[in-house]
Amino acid sequence: MKFFLDTANLDEIRKAASLGLVDGVTTNPSLIAKEGAKFYQRIVEICEIVKGPVSAEVTSLEADGMCRQGRDLAKLHSCVVVKTPTTKEGLKATRCLVADGIKVNMTLCFSPAQALLVAKAGATYVSPFLGRLDDVSHVGMDLLRDIITIYHQYGFKTQVLAASLRHPLHVVEAAKLGADVATMPFKVFEQLFNHPLTDRGQDQFLKDWEKVKDQVL
Ligand code: G3P
Repeated sequence: MKFFLDTANLDEIRKAASLGLVDGVTTNPSLIAKEGAKFYQRIVEICEIVKGPVSAEVTSLEADGMCRQGRDLAKLHSCVVVKTPTTKEGLKATRCLVADGIKVNMTLCFSPAQALLVAKAGATYVSPFLGRLDDVSHVGMDLLRDIITIYHQYGFKTQVLAASLRHPLHVVEAAKLGADVATMPFKVFEQLFNHPLTDRGQDQFLKDWEKVKDQVL
């Protein structure tokens, strides 16, 4: 399972990348707005840190505009993956970008039917938003399971990128179902490391080490 960080914050990306456990980054207009950063410049800065796939989202409403914007984004850096919405226009734009050899991540996917269209359009990634489904009392993981079942059935190459993950159990459940990628906020990434028994055990080992460290040889 690949780990992507879902953020446009450079400090968070640097910290996580320094651990060598981050394979890529996903951004969206909301995340970039939160940083008050210049959109294109921030995408390039992120690409230079992670050296893996970095999703950058188009904002046009119609396919031609999305395709033009996607081509511009793809020129920014070889790591850029163009993010398009799972709408009719987004699907048209995806087909046009894929025909140009540009990698696409289709975002805001909320149903298995949409995910089927995403795979048929030839996107590199489909991003089901699991947390947002949970927010409206639908089980996000059910969508993930359905997408993986359908993709296996036909051998679709589109990678399933579990998105809108809100806590470590989302990551674990997505891994159990076989998601290709989990994208998560920095906070969730950090939570993956924590276990109170690890801390307690480590404290005890170090205390005991103090008792024997002078008698090593
Ligand atoms: O990757 C999608 C993500 O940015 C959406 O997350 O928490 O806003 O639903 P959230």
